[in-house]
Amino acid sequence: MDFAEQVKSSVDIVRTIEEYVKLKQQRGSARYLGLCPFHVEKTPSFNVDGAKQFYYCHGCHVGGDVFKFVMEIDNISFYEALKLLAERNGIPVPQRDISDPDAKLRAALLEMHSIAAETFHANLRSPAGQEARNYLESRGVTSTQMEEFVLGLSDPGGRQLAQKFGPSFSSEQLDQSGLVLKRQEGGGHFDRFRGRLMFPIHNESGKVIGFGGRALRSGDEPKYLNSAETPLYRKKHVLYNLHRAKEAVRKQDYTVLVEGYMDVIGVYSAGVHNVVACCGTALTDTQVRAMKRHSSRIVVNFDPDAAGAKAAEDKIQMLLDEAMQVKVLALDGGLDPDEYVKQFGAEQYRQKLEKAGAYFHWLADRARTKFDMRTVEGRLESFKFVSPAIARIPDRLERFAVANDVASYLGVEPRLVREQFRGGGQKKARAAAPTLAVPANERLLLNALLTSDRVREQVIPQLREIAAVGRFTTRGIFEALFALWDNSKAFRYGELEGRLKETDRHLLSQVVFADELMEETIALEQATACLEALRELDPKEEIADLRTQIQAAERSGDWDRAISLMQLLDERTKPKR
Ligand code: CTP
Ligand code: MN
Repeated sequence: MDFAEQVKSSVDIVRTIEEYVKLKQQRGSARYLGLCPFHVEKTPSFNVDGAKQFYYCHGCHVGGDVFKFVMEIDNISFYEALKLLAERNGIPVPQRDISDPDAKLRAALLEMHSIAAETFHANLRSPAGQEARNYLESRGVTSTQMEEFVLGLSDPGGRQLAQKFGPSFSSEQLDQSGLVLKRQEGGGHFDRFRGRLMFPIHNESGKVIGFGGRALRSGDEPKYLNSAETPLYRKKHVLYNLHRAKEAVRKQDYTVLVEGYMDVIGVYSAGVHNVVACCGTALTDTQVRAMKRHSSRIVVNFDPDAAGAKAAEDKIQMLLDEAMQVKVLALDGGLDPDEYVKQFGAEQYRQKLEKAGAYFHWLADRARTKFDMRTVEGRLESFKFVSPAIARIPDRLERFAVANDVASYLGVEPRLVREQFRGGGQKKARAAAPTLAVPANERLLLNALLTSDRVREQVIPQLREIAAVGRFTTRGIFEALFALWDNSKAFRYGELEGRLKETDRHLLSQVVFADELMEETIALEQATACLEALRELDPKEEIADLRTQIQAAERSGDWDRAISLMQLLDERTKPKR
């Protein structure tokens, strides 16, 4: 048995996936069901089979074994997934040369971050950390919390890390770490963070991947200096504290989302452990999906100033786009969560949290401050401000109930509003329909195929053999790609676009903008994984899936599609001879 098999046989896929996705056991079986982490959905179609040790999503058709899952969810190579699973399950990893250069770099960066976190933390505890400790204490941060969050202090001289790393890491590794910078003159490196209070940022597995550094004296700019983007740390993907919070998020079945590091520490210390921070940036879909894997309910608790409210509006929109159930906690007195806990105590904060209202109540409150509520026009305007959010409520009955509720809250005649709203709401729903969701497999494959000739050369011939491509939402794009490939091996994006129908061109741009550009090796890895997943499609599953798609096409009146799918179904169900 090789090492991979050994790991696979001693790791339980259900336990592993449960670390990332909330699963529910299907009565009396080894099957589990949850919300798919690879696409947006409200009804669970993500299956994990404990007996067969694989997962499969009926919604976006991704699937595979435990390695594939960890590779996709953590966006790492096979080797890294193997190592991670072995380590997590206490299986000793044989020492051997790491051949994958990306994995090697990432391993070095992880080690540097772990050294940095230890070093910063030791500084804070040392006599030289007295001033920083005083500052923390003055803000109500106890030494227990300093330990729990592994807070630290960076060397004011800016030499400590550069010296520690110097002998053990290559110049490229130093440059890529985001922790030290090259000197302009004289060679050597110096520390990026100097004399700052350090907050280590962890990935979901609990490894340090970056830092936030707060200035200690007022007037020091910027107030926060964060790690630069590195192969480990992508600001847009990270949520501060998620690795500590996720247990509690599942237990309570909701996440509390705050703005900053200090807010997390304050709220967590108030006994509310299901708290994460987006660290002052706009919320991304990656971040929302990371939260949604643990619960689809969320309470947003942002800073109450005007800028905070506008930012909150945008964030709420993003959360709604990802089909989260959103409540908003607005604290009075212009206090942020951290200050509120300090001033009014943990108990009162928790009570406020319990009483947080659905997001449209908060929006209605926002509307009341924006329009002149003494006039009929003003009240109608305020209602129009809230109604797009209401129009997004998928359930028709709930939508009308909420519209009613908000209307009476805003002092608008309910009957008048409902009439207005009936038209408005439906128009909105119809307007939103053309943004067809492209399943993850198709998206990944297309992006991989757009990467390089080498990827196309390896993937296209294999892909053509797979019947499922004929059922892709984006099959038009694939067909054009294949035709272009036959015609001339030289690929030009413009030429591909030129061959597409309007709707396919739309889909293509959606796909291109959905993912980041990939390196060739990653693209190949990803395409191979997708190919495997497609090949593993069980014929029975494929047929059932075809039937559902035919029904959907019929329902939406897309007869061309329905007919071509029926032809495919005929081919699949015809007895072979
Ligand atoms: N932030 C940042 N860069 C800045 C300012 C803020 O990255 N120049 C991020 C940090 O993650 C910070 C969050 O935005 O935690 C919220 O900012 P702010 O409310 O100013 O900071 P607090 O965490 O509340 O810190 P403090 O209470 O110490 O001011
Ligand atoms: Mn603050």
